[in-house]
Amino acid sequence: MKKQFLIANFFLCMAVYACSQNPLTIPPAITGTAFNLNVQNGTTQFFDGINTPTYGINGDILGPTIIVNKWDWVTLNVTNSLTGTGNSTTMHWHGLHVPAMADGGPHQIIEQGATWSPQFQILNNASTFWYHPHGLGKTDLQVARGLAGFFIIKDSAEAAINLPRSYGIDDFPIVVQTKAFDILYQVAIATQDDTLVCVNATVDPFLNAPAQVVRLRLLNGSSMRVYNFGFTNDKEFNLIGTDGGLLNNSLPMNRLLLAPGERGEILLDLQGMEGQTIYLMSNSSEMVNGIYGAATVTGMMGGEIPDYNLNPLNGADFEILQINVVAQTADPVLTIPDVLVANEPLITYDNTRTFNLQPDVMMDPEGQVMGPFNINGEHFDMEVINETLYINDVEKWRIQNNTGIAHPFHIHDIQFNIDNINGGPVPLHLQGLKDVVLVMPMSYVEVIAKFEDFADDEVPYMYHCHMLHHEDDGMMGSFLVVDTTKNSIQSQLFSNWIIYPNPVIDFITVQTITMESNAEYKIFNDIGEKVISSQKNNTNNIEINVSQLPAGAYLIQLKSSGNQLTKYFVKL
Ligand code: C2O
Ligand code: CU
Ligand code: CU
Repeated sequence: MKKQFLIANFFLCMAVYACSQNPLTIPPAITGTAFNLNVQNGTTQFFDGINTPTYGINGDILGPTIIVNKWDWVTLNVTNSLTGTGNSTTMHWHGLHVPAMADGGPHQIIEQGATWSPQFQILNNASTFWYHPHGLGKTDLQVARGLAGFFIIKDSAEAAINLPRSYGIDDFPIVVQTKAFDILYQVAIATQDDTLVCVNATVDPFLNAPAQVVRLRLLNGSSMRVYNFGFTNDKEFNLIGTDGGLLNNSLPMNRLLLAPGERGEILLDLQGMEGQTIYLMSNSSEMVNGIYGAATVTGMMGGEIPDYNLNPLNGADFEILQINVVAQTADPVLTIPDVLVANEPLITYDNTRTFNLQPDVMMDPEGQVMGPFNINGEHFDMEVINETLYINDVEKWRIQNNTGIAHPFHIHDIQFNIDNINGGPVPLHLQGLKDVVLVMPMSYVEVIAKFEDFADDEVPYMYHCHMLHHEDDGMMGSFLVVDTTKNSIQSQLFSNWIIYPNPVIDFITVQTITMESNAEYKIFNDIGEKVISSQKNNTNNIEINVSQLPAGAYLIQLKSSGNQLTKYFVKL
């Protein structure tokens, strides 16, 4: 009964809006180094005359676009003004390389009425990131109700390329989300009724875009649905960037598959098209079995998601955004650059791990596509650390999907490069920096990343499926990045500090990446007695004679400009 009502709503809505397009909302941009983000209640009219309760950041729905420069130190004051009971939240900077304490995962809870103010340096390359809540079991509902925003980073490498970059004029943020509603027009989750397509929270949107090269920053911000982006008449576009940065070369294509959490920056050449209209579409009929949004998601034993076929978007080619081509702006970009930046993919690694994505009940045909799913047999637990890594290690992670549905696997802290897919080559459009990868059923993907700069013995980062219903169901794990010493909460200044050789016989060398003035070092034996101490000025190589020390374990402590770092070494 409820189902029929909702399907009826869908067609009603199509009827109401089919001819009455709405101008695409462009979220306001905010720049600088200090940002106030107020997480608040609001209302939004998705259906004519009906106010649906939503959540927004500094507004009724979605959040402002934060635009920052690489190397800037930023402060984000996130205030939780949500009403209702038990409405704590968190705020995660998806794709950003920040300390675990500042990451905004499930452990950095912002209680109602409280303000959380992480501070960090922007270390990522220019790209399109986003922010959204990540509370335990709450991500789907809070994101679906509207909590999400763009986080755009600029840098000098990007600035050196002739690209459209006037926000809202030739450079557009495009977050695509499908939403489900209950019979009272409240946003619903964990149903297959996500029939309403929104772009930047606008229903049936149109965008007036100038007849020149324009840039679309596509973000799949949906809870579950994958889009196979394309344009009317298969018009060609150029992919210039993926999750974590620009590609080496722009890549002409006419389809781009983006799963929840993934981003793609594309250039679209609208020259000579003034007065014409084209559509950004999802060509979902072309998506293969197992991808949420394709015509079928059928497991190896024939299991299906109940009511999946009732959703008219599944397996359909549907319009997402109407683009009306209007007059050129002054100073238009008229060419598409070929060479962009020089990424060096990581090839060698120090350690490998495997993450098996599995249905809880292997032999349940429906469970193979519906879940609940686990990773290596475990569901997420706030109290458990699933993996421990060592800082500065390069790791190769195999994500092995043993289920009947494709899962977008996301890793916090780092950007990775995809090393291989099922042992085979990686298509060009997936050769850039990524933080989400869609892993097909009964397949694996191997990714390589370096875990650098931030160690913390207690606060973990997350890895998880970015289908938010799966994530909330526990398809998530945690990892610590630790230093090899006991007290490892360090400034970045010392993150690349190394000592060698270890074990040592006579001389141990301390090497820092920066020139240290007034570096002070102390060596303690295993009962805590200071055995050597000294001071060195203006050096990044300190050689210490330890030949007279008895064999055993020692701790070396280095202090400079208020920063302190300790490491263990063994004297032979
Ligand atoms: Cu966008 Cu852990 O998430
Ligand atoms: Cu993330
Ligand atoms: Cu999943």
